[in-house]
Parts: sequence; structure tokens; C-alpha cells
Amino acid sequence: MYPALRISKDDAEEVRKSLYDMHIVDGERRFVRKGDWIEIPIIEGYEDRASVFGGIIEQEKPVFKQRTPSPFIKAAAILGMGDNPLLPRKWEMFGDVLVLRMHPSLENRKYEIARAYADVLGARTVLQDVGGVEGEFREPVMEFLFGDDAETVHLENGVRFMFDASRIMFSSGNIDERVRMAYIPSHNETIVDMFAGIGYFTIPMAVHSRPKKIYACEKNPVSFEYLKRNIELNHVEDIVEAILGDNRDVCPEGVADRVVMGYVGSTHHFFDTAFSALKERGTVHYHETCPEELAGERPILRLRSAAEENGYRVEGYTQRKVKSYAPGILHVVVDARVNKY
Ligand SMILES: C[S@@+](CC[C@H](N)C(=O)[O-])C[C@H]1O[C@@H](n2cnc3c(N)ncnc32)[C@H](O)[C@@H]1O
Repeated sequence: MYPALRISKDDAEEVRKSLYDMHIVDGERRFVRKGDWIEIPIIEGYEDRASVFGGIIEQEKPVFKQRTPSPFIKAAAILGMGDNPLLPRKWEMFGDVLVLRMHPSLENRKYEIARAYADVLGARTVLQDVGGVEGEFREPVMEFLFGDDAETVHLENGVRFMFDASRIMFSSGNIDERVRMAYIPSHNETIVDMFAGIGYFTIPMAVHSRPKKIYACEKNPVSFEYLKRNIELNHVEDIVEAILGDNRDVCPEGVADRVVMGYVGSTHHFFDTAFSALKERGTVHYHETCPEELAGERPILRLRSAAEENGYRVEGYTQRKVKSYAPGILHVVVDARVNKY
């Protein structure tokens, strides 16, 4: 099966970038031009995500690329380490900053390995992801292996995110959710993003859905500075107002058609603020990390009971998995329509 997205050649450049950002282009096949149309090969199983941009077809005559060695093989060759199975086979690239996880047995060669990967992948800086994200501000623990400046601009789905990858998290696993939120129809709405960070949801929503207003609250001053820069970089000053502080103190009240609660761990402690931000009716996007066996019940039970305590009723909801967060733990998001009674 060889699915492809069929789009007009005028849209191809913009859509191509978004699809690469989403990592759903099938790199084994070439793009095929047919008159004014382009067929972009899509990895099988990702047709739904690609269909946001146009029609999906089955290619009758796919054109395959010639194989080139993977970056892993190239780096191994530079290092003279054959195809050492312990060399990193996966990595993340944010703009021109590469993030690796190095096997402990490679500790004594880590700087040399980082330089080889930087060469092969064209990275300016290489960080080692030492230990996930920490604390209230969800800060990553990173070590510099190559270069000394991790401020970069990462392009995703037509949005530019500037941030310092050594100090600020950027969850690759949330990409589908960032793309989904970008296209939530919200044209005449006022939105409150309670945990805006550098604008993970705020900027895609502002760029692609162009709501009337987004109030973006952020407590970490470092993230807040990048949030402001990203508002400028993406030219959405007319839509987004960045607010520095704890959302429980600074969130505007009674203004929102939609509230985004994009935080994990203790999100349910922030329901009162979410409901006080809402108008008489609206939508809440509630994120929760939840043991798999409770995921069918707990998020919506928590949301329903908080709604009732705040004088709202849940009129309807959908829930989806954002990603696997840890073994046995899911990150889910509930979209709930609520109404004051
Ligand atoms: C890192 S983001 C969550 C990630 C995001 N969901 C994504 O797509 O990657 C959460 C942000 O909420 C901020 N934050 C935490 N507690 C807060 C509070 N009480 N008020 C405002 N912002 C808060 C953190 O500083 C952080 O920048």
C-alpha cells in the first residue's frame, strides 16, 4: 500500500514543510508531479493526519529513491566504530540543536561521538538528555556535549518556536496534539491558555485558526521571555496577550470560550481557575497523566466533579491519548463542552 497526499502544486511547498515537521512523509518514495498536482508520499498508517491538508490517494506507480546511508551509519564510519549497536540510533533535532541520549558505556567517547553526529546531521550544538524534565516549570536536565549555545528556532507545522533547548522542554511526543489544536475551529473565540510555556499551543492556534484573542499565562520568566519572542516571530501580536505569573493569580475571569489546561501531573488542582476564566458556556481541554487502567474513568470524573463545584455541567466530551508518558502511564486530553446552570 502506497498512500500519498494529493495537493495542488501551489500549496505543495507549505504543506511539504508541515508534513516533514510531523514526520509522516515516506522517505523511501519520491514526490510525483502530475500536471498541476503533486503526490506527497505518506507513511502508511498516517493517512488521517495528512488528510488535514487534502485528499489521500493510493499511488499506482510509486517512485522509489535510491538508498543513502543513514546518519547512524555515517557517524559510525567517521568514528571508526563499525555499526556499534550502542551508538545512538534515535535523536531529536530542534532547529540546529541536536539532543542525544548516550549509552553509559560510551561516556569516555561522548564528546567525540557528539561531534561526529553534529557533522553528519548539521547541528551547531549537541546536548545530552541526562534525565527527563523536572519540577513545576518542567525544565529539562541537559548537558552540553558540543557547542555552548542551545538557543534555536524550531520550525513545526508552519510555526516558529524559539527557545533554549538546554533550559526549556519541547515535547516531540506532543506534536500531534499541537497540530490538532492548531486547527480547532476557534475563529471568533477568546481563549485562555493557562500553561502557555513558550507558546506550544498558543502560537499554532494563533497562526492557523486566528481566534479573536488568546490570553497566554506563563509563570516561568525564562519561558515567558521566549513566549513574547515567539509572538513577534510569528506575527500574532494582534491576537496573543502574554501574561507573566501564576495562572491562579493572573488569569483573566469570565472571558473565555475555550480554556487550555496543557500541563501534566497536578492539572486537576487548577480547575477552579479554569472555570473562573470561562464564560457561561465553553470548552475545556484538560490534560492528565493517568495510570492506564484508570484512563477510561478518572479524567472525566475529575472534570465533571470540578465543573459541578463551579456551577457548570459537562454537556459532552471526547477523550484522546496524547502519548505514552511512562510505562503504564498515559497522557490524555479531554475536550469537554461545559455550560453554566
Ligand atoms: C512545559 S508546558 C507543558 C508542555 C506542553 N503541554 C507541550 O505541548 O509541550 C507547561 C508550562 O506551564 C508552566 N506553569 C506551571 N505552573 C504554572 C502556573 N501555576 N501558572 C502558569 N504557568 C505555569 C510551566 O512553567 C511550563 O512552561
